Parts: sequence; structure tokens; C-alpha cells
Amino acid sequence: MTAQTATSILSDRIGRIEVSATMAVTAEAAQLRAQGVQLADFGAGEPHFPTPRHIKDAAIEAIEANFTRYTVVAGIPELRKAIVQRHACDFGSDYTADEAVFTTGGKLALFNAIQVLVDHGDEVILPVPYWVSFKDIVQYAGGKLVYLQTEESENFRITADAIEKSITPRTKVIILNSPSNPAGSVVSPGDLERIVNLAHDRGIFLLLDECYVYLQYAGTPLSGGSFVEAKEHVVVLGSLSKTYAMTGWRAGFALGPKPIIAAMSKLQSQSTSSSAAFVQKAAIAALNGSQACVVEMRADYLKLRDRILAGLAEIPGITCTTPQGAFYVYPNVSAFLGKPGAKSATELAARLLHEAHVVAVPGEAFGTQEHIRLSYAVCHNDIEEGLVRMKSFFAKLAA
Ligand SMILES: Cc1ncc(COP(=O)(O)O)c(C=O)c1O
Repeated sequence: MTAQTATSILSDRIGRIEVSATMAVTAEAAQLRAQGVQLADFGAGEPHFPTPRHIKDAAIEAIEANFTRYTVVAGIPELRKAIVQRHACDFGSDYTADEAVFTTGGKLALFNAIQVLVDHGDEVILPVPYWVSFKDIVQYAGGKLVYLQTEESENFRITADAIEKSITPRTKVIILNSPSNPAGSVVSPGDLERIVNLAHDRGIFLLLDECYVYLQYAGTPLSGGSFVEAKEHVVVLGSLSKTYAMTGWRAGFALGPKPIIAAMSKLQSQSTSSSAAFVQKAAIAALNGSQACVVEMRADYLKLRDRILAGLAEIPGITCTTPQGAFYVYPNVSAFLGKPGAKSATELAARLLHEAHVVAVPGEAFGTQEHIRLSYAVCHNDIEEGLVRMKSFFAKLAA
């Protein structure tokens, strides 16, 4: 079958989206690695830590006990209770177990939330830079994206004033991701409260992707779910992937108004059904167990962040904002762009990969033209090696 016939048999829906850019970079890096190339891999956003012992043990125990069958679609009651209790304990929210659904990864929670809320032509406000999947998932649902530009000089800060200006009578959803991927920007508590209230007052739904909420380096992390009076219009999307180093387990959740959670469960009942039974037991162990592992990992990310920022600052031509959370830096590489062979960040990232064997994701994937994203959730030696390689690569490029 040719590419053209394939296009004509496929739905209009699938033609509206692209392969996730981070997944594409990961695949290209894997190919090089298979050829024996030693990469400094700052591509995929995934913790370099192993999943903590007590979480793995809970899954092993569950398998040994033959807890390996279908479960109720939204997740076993004990797990949904653990989700709401963890959230209430950390953020003072007030959800009941039937306001929670466990999903096969945080991405599915987001996907399902958008599918049940967004109709053709509904406007969805999305701050730039954005995590790659937000855009495609909204387009898949037929929604109309309204991009909200942020300023690099203000650390890509998202303000309530800017959100308010983007609202129109067609706005159905606002997406917020704080701390954000890729820039690590954090919405201030004052702005978050105003955004929650202005969405609630206007009957707009706020989708809060809080998958990095435990990886905030200054100030007290806050959840949009803490504003209980506005609960009716808030959907919190969570993930165990980054918090507990569980990316491959596929464990995420949503907390929100009962009708939305029920609709998400209905959609899930016709697609994935429940998540893997033993993963649910592991998730309970993660949420109910000691949170010391989270504190330890966060402390290491902070050291890694400071080291990579210091190293990048020594590369002439590169500037970089200081991320306040998550585990990415988003350096501005505009000084190197526009030259033959490096006309765009995409071309630059390709050369960085093939010539310096450093994996980075080009900024175009996140809606900006002048940046690359580097994930610093890697071991300290890889940071050092990657910095050496980038220093020499950019020096050659500038010459
Ligand atoms: C902002 C954001 N949301 C959601 C996810 C999805 O995480 P997962 O599906 O692994 O839970 C990611 C993963 O990179 C992310 O960066």
C-alpha cells in the first residue's frame, strides 16, 4: 500500500495529529544506540532512578497472589481512596473516591478528559511553550487551539491577566501545566487562584496537568484542586510516572466533578478498560507508603538542574531561563540558527544528535522556534559528558 492510499483509507481524525516529537527523538536515539553509539541522552523526560523497592515489591506480591484479573474500570476502590487521600493530605483537596479515576498513564487521563469535554470548534486555551501532546490531543477531538504566548524574559510565566484576555464566548477549556514541560515554569499561587476563579465564574473547565507538582524547587507546591469552592470546573490530571520513577508502569489519574469522571470511565470502558491489576497495587504502595523517595529524588534533580544550568552558562551564545520545577531546561539557541545546516531548531537538534551524539528535543515540538529541550533526569556523569560535547559542538558551529 502506498502512502497515498494509506492516507485515503484513514480517518480525518488521525490525519489531524502527528507522532509525538519526543517519542520520535527517542526512536532515533534508540537506532543510533543499537549501532553502538554512546549517547548523552537528554531526550525523553523520564527519571533515571529505578522504581523504589517497596513499590516493586507490592506489584510482585500482587502477581504472586494472582491479583492478575480485570478490575473495575475506574480502578479498585482501595486505589481511588489512596489517590484522594494522598491529594487531600498534600494539597488540602476534598475529593471522594468516585471523583477519581485511575488511568493507564497520565497521558490517557488527559486524552480522555479532552475527549469528553471538547467538541468540534470549542476553543481550548493553551499557553506556549506547551507539552507536545496537548496540541495533538485537542486537535484529535476537533477543538480549536487558542495559543497564549508567554515571555521568555519573564521565565515563560503564565498570568491570570493573560488567560483572561484569551477567553472568548467559545472557550470551553483552559489547559495549565505547572510546573511546566518544557520550560519548568510555575504558576504563582495568586495567579492560580485567580485563574481557577475566573474559569469557575464563566463556566469554563480548567484542566490542570499536575504531573510535575511534586518536582517544584521553590515555594510550596499548590494544586488547583485545593480550591474546593471551584471544584465543579476543575479537573486535576496526575501521574505517578515522574513522582515515583514509574514511567513504564503506565499509572496516572484524574480528579474532578463526578459527571466528568463518570464520562471518562465510560470512555475507558470502551478502550483500555482498567489498568493492569498489579500496577494498581503498586500505585497504592506508592501513594500510601513513605514519601521519602520523592524528597530524595527531588533533591537530586535540583543538583542536576543547577549543574546543567552552570554548564550551559559557560557556552557562549546560549542563554537559559531558570526552571522552577520539572526536570527540563529550555535553552535559547537562536544565536546559532539561520546558518546553513542549522536553519531551525529541528536541524540543529539533528546535528547535535548525529555530530555530537547528544539527544535533545527541538523547540518546534513545544511551539517555539529558538529553543531546544534538555531533560536533566540523567545521572551526573551523563550531564558532565553531555556538557563537554555541547561545548565543543557549539564552539565549532560558532567558528
Ligand atoms: C506535562 C506532561 N503531562 C503528562 C505526561 C504523561 O505522563 P505519563 O503518561 O507517563 O503519566 C507527561 C510526560 O512526559 C508530561 O510531560
